[in-house]
Formats: sequence, C-alpha cells, structure tokens
Amino acid sequence: MDNDDRLAAYAQGFLEPEDEPLRAARARSEEADIPAVPPETGALLRFLARVTRARHVVEVGSGGGYSGLWLLGGMDPRGSLTTIDIAPAHQSLAQQAYAEAGLTGRVRSILGPALSVLPKLADQTYDIVFLDAVKAEYPEYLAHAKRLLKAGGLLVADNVLWHGKVVDSEAVDEDTEAIRRFNASVHDDPELQGLLLEIGDGVLCAVHQPTSGSP
Ligand SMILES: C[S@@+](CC[C@H](N)C(=O)[O-])C[C@H]1O[C@@H](n2cnc3c(N)ncnc32)[C@H](O)[C@@H]1O
Repeated sequence: MDNDDRLAAYAQGFLEPEDEPLRAARARSEEADIPAVPPETGALLRFLARVTRARHVVEVGSGGGYSGLWLLGGMDPRGSLTTIDIAPAHQSLAQQAYAEAGLTGRVRSILGPALSVLPKLADQTYDIVFLDAVKAEYPEYLAHAKRLLKAGGLLVADNVLWHGKVVDSEAVDEDTEAIRRFNASVHDDPELQGLLLEIGDGVLCAVHQPTSGSP
C-alpha cells in the first residue's frame, strides 16, 4: 500500500458505516448494473442534507435507491424526497430500498424522463437538487435546478470529473462535452457559489443565491 492508499483508507475510516438497507440497495444496484454513487459520495450527500436540515429534496436519477437512502438519512425527519427515474425496473428496486428502510411514506417516486418531469415540479421549493441521471442533459437540468431551488438551496451534481475525461483533450464525446459545459456554467454563474470536490467521480456543490427578482 503506498501513502495515497493509506491516506484514502484512513479517510474512509471516518465514513458513516452503511446500515443493512444501504448495503442491500448497493448490492442490488450492482447486480442490476446500475452505477450507484460510491459510499463516500453517499456520506457526503447525507452530510449536506443534515447540515442544511433539508425538508424538500429532488433527486434526478433514483437508480436502485442507494443515494436516496443516504439523502433521506440526513434530511429533516419530516422531509420528503422527490426522486425521478425513467426505468420502471430501477424505480421498483428503489421503492424496495425505501420500503426496507421504512421510508416509503417520505418518498415521492416519479417515473418518466427527467426533462418531462422537472418542469412539473414547483418553483423555489427545494433545499437540495441532486443530479445523477443523463450526463448529456446536465446543462438542461441546471436551468430547472435553479428554478426549483429556494434561495440558499444547494445544487449537487455527481460524476463531474467523468472518470477523468473532463481534462482529457482527446475526449470529445457528448457526455464529456456536456459535463464540461455544465461545470463551466456553474462556475461562471454569479448566482451560484460552487465548489468542486474530488470525492468519488467528482461532486459539484453550489449554493443558489438568486439576485433579487430572478427565480
Ligand atoms: C447513475 S444511475 C443513478 C444512481 C443513483 N443516483 C444512486 O446513486 O443510487 C442513473 C439513473 O438515471 C436513470 N435515467 C436514465 N435516463 C434518464 C432520464 N432521461 N430521465 C430520468 N432518469 C433517467 C437511469 O435509469 C438510472 O437509474
């Protein structure tokens, strides 16, 4: 083990351990080939939900429910998670995960393409919007997220380093280009105060501070 590995293992020792519903949701996601967030990203989601005392959260990309369980565990106990997925099989797995954790009553699980569902959600209502679905659609999710977030709400996006491709000049595929555009838009937006964390595959967090009059 080199020093970087030892430091990574040391840092991992500070993660909140998975409970049984989380462990089962991760195992089912792996089995179904759904790329769930790694545990360190899950722990970050929980921390962010806890520190903001989040009551209303939108998740774009439920997968097998793994990230949703991390979020719910940090949210205000009266809070609810609105989670969107296009795949019925993934929605079923996610619903199984929420049920096993006794959290079904706190989840609104919506089946459909994110870009059709997001316009139906209420403006300026949410404390956190977490993006983890189609990478090529991240730039479009951004406009919706800004509309949905309360002032002071938090935008969180996973995979913003895209397995290192964002800094590979030869990577010009649609997903990589979209993530680069998304990251640059967040960085350049005066209404978003952001921070890119090298956790997991990269997590971009930004506080939404709308200038007066804008949604
Ligand atoms: C990376 S996985 C989500 C993993 C989940 N956030 C977790 O960590 O447990 C991406 C999910 O987005 C869903 N998805 C793909 N295209 C979508 C779309 N157009 N609208 C909504 N969800 C979509 C997939 O079915 C998949 O479940």
